[in-house]
Order: sequence, then structure tokens, then C-alpha cells
Amino acid sequence: MTQPAHGGNLVWAAKLAGCPPSAIVDFSASISPLGPPHSVLVAMKSQMAKVRNYPDPNYSELRLALSHFHQLPSEWILPGNGSAELLTLLGREFAQLTATVLMTPAFGDYYRALRSYNANVQELFFWEEEEDKGKAIKFIPPLSDSVTPKTSGLIINNPHNPTGKLFVREAILHYLEEFALVVVDEAFMDFLSPEEEQSLIGLVQKYPNLVILRSLTKFYSLPGLRLGYAIAHPERLQYWKLWRDPWPVSSLAEVAGIAAISDLDFQEQTWAWLPTVREELFQGLSQIPGLEPLPSAANFLLIKSQVSVKKLQSQLLRHHQIFIRDCVSFPELGDRFFRIAVRTSEENQLLLDAFNQVMIRNAG
Ligand SMILES: Cc1ncc(COP(=O)(O)O)c(C=O)c1O
Repeated sequence: MTQPAHGGNLVWAAKLAGCPPSAIVDFSASISPLGPPHSVLVAMKSQMAKVRNYPDPNYSELRLALSHFHQLPSEWILPGNGSAELLTLLGREFAQLTATVLMTPAFGDYYRALRSYNANVQELFFWEEEEDKGKAIKFIPPLSDSVTPKTSGLIINNPHNPTGKLFVREAILHYLEEFALVVVDEAFMDFLSPEEEQSLIGLVQKYPNLVILRSLTKFYSLPGLRLGYAIAHPERLQYWKLWRDPWPVSSLAEVAGIAAISDLDFQEQTWAWLPTVREELFQGLSQIPGLEPLPSAANFLLIKSQVSVKKLQSQLLRHHQIFIRDCVSFPELGDRFFRIAVRTSEENQLLLDAFNQVMIRNAG
């Protein structure tokens, strides 16, 4: 079995651990441990009969709910089969430009989407580990001379996977004036409370070259359902619809999406929970010799390791059925970094105990 390029591949992990996938404690996929919200499961069960009919190809109810949620007209919103499906449509857009600037280390699926249409990728390494001072990025390094922004695109992931860094709005704003197309992937932005978030959704009506991607996967713990959405100029979204199949989102995903964004209690609960538990986990990891976590604004942490991560990953799987995300698929990070989701306090403690045992064994 080949090495997975994404977190959450439990079949692969279970094979290595020698146990069923359900026995794995999965820190590798950055999914909230608080969901799915009860309200979502109840709504799906009560509307199961919807599977007898095709979904509404316009997804009018979901778009209306999202339009209230983000205070935008619904023509500016297009649901997709996870934000990964919308990335594929973007690959086709980017291929029409002279180049696409990718801030690296970058989420691997951007490369898939761009390469599938032969887009010209220009990498911009934005994060200097030695200069890492905190959660927020206020300055992005200059572009190389080979890029002409007027005819190029840019993808920014905010907060950024895998570093957990948050670009403050002002660090991105000037690109909206310069680039032909700017995509801001905000798959993890909902983990920040309304006081902290740095979303560009409020600017989308001012900039026809701006596309925002959002996902319901991480915050509402629904990776298996596949639901995300794009927020962009209605004209752009209209031709995207012509590029894809008529019903990419299932009826049940539409029901789930409406219930999820309406669940204000769940949202409040998550914002109250994350900062404390993330800080506890950060402190716990900082005390383990050989590990160095980096400050994060998201629901995951990137950690530098003095020991080979592939070795650690295999030891944690075989002896503790715990799965961490190695960073070998990010060429800039390699075998000295790994990423973990913030899970419940009890699960985080299991991870810390397992790390302590593994590190002692490795030192002995
Ligand atoms: C940064 C980022 N964007 C998008 C996605 C895709 O999410 P979805 O499940 O909505 O397709 C992921 C999934 O890992 C991600 O990490």
C-alpha cells in the first residue's frame, strides 16, 4: 500500500497498526472531535426520504441558508462536493492564466487540481521556520520577477495548512488589486471566533477576481459527507456550473449543511473549547524532549521533531494505535515535521503519554 498523500487514511494506518480502522485514534486528519452536531444527524434522519428524488440542481435552500449566514445574495454562492471539487474547477480557471502562485508548503490537493489542467505553478515559500514568532503572518515575501501578477493567479490558504498560521487581512489585500485571480481557501477559518477571524468574504462583492472556498468538513466533522462551497462573482459561478455534473451535492448533504450552519450553539461551543485545549496540547508537547510545536490559529499543530517522523509514526501506530500526519508529502518539511489535530483532552493526553513512552524507548 502506498504512502497516503492526505491525513485520515485509516485503512493504511490500520494495516500498519495491525488492528481494525475503528480502533485507530486519528490525529492525522484535522477534524473537530466535537461533531457531527446532533442537530445535523437528526435533520438527516428525518429527511432520509429525500434520497428518492434527485437533488434540486440549484441547491436553492442551501444557498439561501448560506446567504443568510454570510449576508450575501445567494447567486454569489455555489455548493460543491467538498471544497476539493471546487478546487478542480479552479484548476481549469488557473490554467487559462500565465502562472499560478502557490504559497508553500502547500496543501497537496492544489497541485492535483492545477496539474490536471497543466496550469503553470510558481511556488512562493512564505514561511521561515527560524523567524516563526507567533500565530499571525503580517507580511508575505516578495514575488519572484518571473511572475506577472496582472496575468497570473494566486492561492492563499488561510489559516494555513499545515503550519496553522493566520494571514491577517491586510497582508492579502493588496494582492486583490494586483492579481487576475485570487483564491483564498478558508477551509479552517470557521474555527476562529467572529472576533478573531480574518475572512475576506466581506470583500467578495468588491473584487470580481476574488474567490473564497469554504468547507463543512473540518468544523462540523463531516468529511465523509462531502460538502463545501465557493463564494465568488455570480458570472464565474454560472460557468462553473456548466463544467460539472448536474448534481454534485447529494440531497442529504444539502439537508446537513442547512442544519450545520443553523446550529449556533455548536459554533459557540467550538469557539469556547478550542483555544484552551489547543494550548494544553501545545504545552504538553513542548515538554517532551525532541519535540517543538509551533503556535497555531487552527485546530491542528505542526511539530518539529529531532527524531525521524516516519519512525515515530510507525511506533505510535504499532504500539499505541495512534495515527499522526507525517509531512513527507510537503517537500519543504520532509521527515522532521508532523501535524496533529487537536482532539479531546482525554485523547490528547493519550497522545502525550504515548509520545513520552516512545521517546524514552528511542533514547534508551
Ligand atoms: C486546506 C484545505 N483545503 C481544502 C480541503 C478539502 O476539504 P473538503 O473536505 O471540503 O474537500 C482540505 C482537506 O484536507 C484542506 O486541508
